[in-house]
Amino acid sequence: MSRTISASRVATLVEGFDRSPAYAGLADALTLLIGDGRIGLGTRLPSERELTDALGVSRTTVTRAYVALREGGYAEARQGAGTFTRVPGGRARAHDRALLPRPGDSDAIDLNCAAPSAPPQLAAAYAAAAADLPPYLGGHGYFPAGLPELQRAIAATYDARGLPTDPAQIMVTPGALTAGAVIAQAFTSPGDRVLVESPTYPNATDALRHAGARLVPSAVDPDGWDLDAVAATLRQTSPKLAYLIPDFQNPTGHLMTDAQREQLAAHLRRAHTVPIVDEAHQELALEGQPMPRPFASFLPETITIGSASKSFWGGLRLGWIRAPREQMDRLTQARVSLDLGAPVYEQLVMVRLLADATAILDENRQRLREQRDALSSAITELLPDWRFHLPTGGLALWCRLPGTHATAVAAEAERRGVIIAPGPVFAAEGGLDSFVRIPWTRPADELTEAARRVAEAWAVVRSRPSGPSRTNRVMVA
Ligand SMILES: Cc1ncc(COP(=O)(O)O)c(C=O)c1O
Repeated sequence: MSRTISASRVATLVEGFDRSPAYAGLADALTLLIGDGRIGLGTRLPSERELTDALGVSRTTVTRAYVALREGGYAEARQGAGTFTRVPGGRARAHDRALLPRPGDSDAIDLNCAAPSAPPQLAAAYAAAAADLPPYLGGHGYFPAGLPELQRAIAATYDARGLPTDPAQIMVTPGALTAGAVIAQAFTSPGDRVLVESPTYPNATDALRHAGARLVPSAVDPDGWDLDAVAATLRQTSPKLAYLIPDFQNPTGHLMTDAQREQLAAHLRRAHTVPIVDEAHQELALEGQPMPRPFASFLPETITIGSASKSFWGGLRLGWIRAPREQMDRLTQARVSLDLGAPVYEQLVMVRLLADATAILDENRQRLREQRDALSSAITELLPDWRFHLPTGGLALWCRLPGTHATAVAAEAERRGVIIAPGPVFAAEGGLDSFVRIPWTRPADELTEAARRVAEAWAVVRSRPSGPSRTNRVMVA
C-alpha cells in the first residue's frame, strides 16, 4: 500500500519557499523534502488542484513544479494513480543506507567504499604466516577473545600510545563493524538511547538500530564538533551510550583535539553516558602530526573499537574491542551469540604486520597523502563551486555543494561510471543532501578521472530547471 501526504501537510513543509519564480522555488523545496526523507519515497503527492488550493498559488505554478520534479528524477507520474515521489537512481539508492562494497566492475570507479587497496607487504606477510599456523592445527581453532599473541600485540599498540592495556582487555573480532555489533548486543536493550554523530558511519548506526537502540543525533558541522550542543543533548536525553569517531571522523574527516576530548569526556561523565569510540582511522594522520591521546585515557569507561581495515587491508576482516576488564565477560557472552572468533590464519598475518607496522604504515600514509592531494586539486579545479575542508588524515573529502542535489549528482555520476555516496547515506535522520563523500582511496589518475566525470554529472544536474537551490540552504541534521 502506498502512502499519501495531504496538501495541507505539504503546504506546512514548504512554507516560505522562494517565489522568484514560484514554480522553481516550490520544486526546490519539494526536492529537498524528498531528498532528505521528510516526504517518504513512494508517497503519493497531493493532486495539482489540491496543492494549488492549499498554497494559494496558480495552477501553472504547481503543474510546472511537478514537471521539474519529474525531470529531476524526484517524482514519477503513474497512469491514473497520481504523482509519486522517488529519488534519482531509485529506492535502493536512498534506502540502502549501508555502504555496500560492490563486486569488481572493470569500468566503474567505485568510490562508495572508503577503503584503500592492500599495501605491497601484505602478500609476504600472508606467506610468512603460513609457517606460524601448524602449531594451531592440532587444536579446535576457536579463540573467542582472539589469538593470545595478537591480543598482546594489539595491547602493546595502546601502551605505545600512553594508554596502558592488559591483553585481556582486547577482544579480536572479524572487523570493526562486528565489534560495534557485539558492543550494541552487549550494552543496549530495545529502546535505549544512543547518541550518534550526524553525519556518521552508517553501517554502525544500522548495527545500533538492529539492536533496538533509539538513536539521538548530534550534528557534526562542516567546521567540526559543537561540544556545547553535544552537552545540551546529553543533558536533555541522558543516552546510555554515545557512538563517536574522534579520529578523522567518517565522513567529515575532523580530528578532535586533546582539549575537546577532555571537555567531551567531562560532559559524558556528568551524563553517565558510556562512549563507544571508533578508532578505525586512528593510524591515518597524513601530515606526520602527533595524534591526540586516546579517548579512553580521558574517560576509563570508554569502550574503544579498532580496525585493521584502513591501516592494513579490509580483506583481512580484523578489528577489535578494547574495554575495561570488568566488561569483558559481558562482551564475550554477547559475542558468542554472533560468532565464535576471528579466523586464526588472518590473525597470524596481523601479528606479522604489527611487527613491521612502522614501515608499512609510513608507506601507506605517503601513498594516501599523494592521493588526497591529487583528489583535492582536481575537485578544486573542476568543481570550483564545491567546498571542502582539507582533512589532515583519514580517507575522504566531505564536499558541500551549492544546493541540495547530492543524491541527483551521485545518480548522474553513476551513469558515468563513478560511484560516490551522497550525504543522506551518512545522516542519522535524513538531511545532508548538500554533501557528497569522495574518498581518495584509488590511484591518483583514477581520482582525477573520477573528478572529471563527477564535474560532468554536476553540470547536468545544475542545468536542470529545478537546478541547485538558489537559496543555498545547508541542512546539517
Ligand atoms: C568509522 C568506521 N568504523 C568501522 C568501519 C568498518 O571497519 P571494518 O572493515 O574493520 O569492519 C569503517 C569502514 O569504513 C569505518 O569508517
